[in-house]
Amino acid sequence: MKKVLVTGALGQIGTDLVLFLRDVYGEGNVVASSRSRKEGHILCENGIFELIDVRDPKSIDEVVSRHKITDIYHLASILSAVGEGNPQMLWDINMNGLYNVLEVARARKCAVMVPSSIAVFGPGTPLDNTPQDTIMRPSTIYGVSKVAGELLCDYYYKKYNVDVRGLRYPGLISNAALPGGGTTDYAVHIYYDAIKHKKYSCFLQEGTYIDMMYMPDAIEGTYMLMQADPAKLKHRNAFNFCAMSFAPEDIAAEIKKIIPEFEITYDIDPIRQAIADSWPNTIDDSAAREEWGWKPKYDLAAMTKDMIDVLSKKLK
Ligand code: NAD
Ligand code: SER
Repeated sequence: MKKVLVTGALGQIGTDLVLFLRDVYGEGNVVASSRSRKEGHILCENGIFELIDVRDPKSIDEVVSRHKITDIYHLASILSAVGEGNPQMLWDINMNGLYNVLEVARARKCAVMVPSSIAVFGPGTPLDNTPQDTIMRPSTIYGVSKVAGELLCDYYYKKYNVDVRGLRYPGLISNAALPGGGTTDYAVHIYYDAIKHKKYSCFLQEGTYIDMMYMPDAIEGTYMLMQADPAKLKHRNAFNFCAMSFAPEDIAAEIKKIIPEFEITYDIDPIRQAIADSWPNTIDDSAAREEWGWKPKYDLAAMTKDMIDVLSKKLK
């Protein structure tokens, strides 16, 4: 039987992922963790919650050993926009945290899931239909940590046979937890503001295309990758992974079909705009489709309908 640990579990992905994994493996077999408690968070009130700061290897090892963990989903991280404000902190958490998790996994023989990102790409990368294997020279500290992370994961697999797997997540849109300080966060905030205020001021400019995905697809894909036959995984730590690509005006037009009064305006943040401009418009995820059967269920229209349905009830 699997016993799962999720680091950074109180964030945007962890909140949905832990609930999904508890449905699959049972509430008592999935340990949520973060560096501090969040008052009122569903995962601090229900099921097993442990305090782990991933910069502290002892705190990881103690929980892994006490709960006899077999699989670690390592989500603790700093995202792109916050990282540009404090590159030293990002490096400490993203790189030392990953190293500590991989070392515990090596010693305790755990499988590991490590998210990468479309942020591994940068200037020089082909922007359209970005290939799986291509130039990766990111210009953000977040992207640098993600490229280094992919390489470190490959190394632990080849050198120590740690069963570590990973996906290059695109911008993720969800309604359970708010995003944690990335460049794609606008695509979540726009729905909240559409419902609450019928208008949204966007920090990215018109025509900024980025790959995106609805959270139920991201969770399903993450689970599929961890179940996949290892013999078929040629790109085990770095799969291009996407569902749709859109610019702010596309999501606004889709929202307007359901909330006709909705208006978008633009107030550009130069830092996040520069990050977005350095990322691809659309990536080619055919390796994920071929090697482990990836296929998204949600397009922009289906996601928008579901987001507005769910958030209209939640924000009542
Ligand atoms: P998030 O910021 O919402 O959550 C990360 C969590 O990690 C936070 O709750 C934070 O408190 C916690 N954390 C930070 N430092 C920690 C530490 N030292 N020890 C323990 N916990 C710590 O991030 P997310 O969106 O859930 O992202 C999870 C992973 O997916 C990250 O690796 C991120 O880079 C990657 N990713 C996310 C997206 C996205 O759109 N959400 C896209 C691409 C990749
Ligand atoms: N959503 C993430 C960010 O904007 C992409 O990795 O940082």
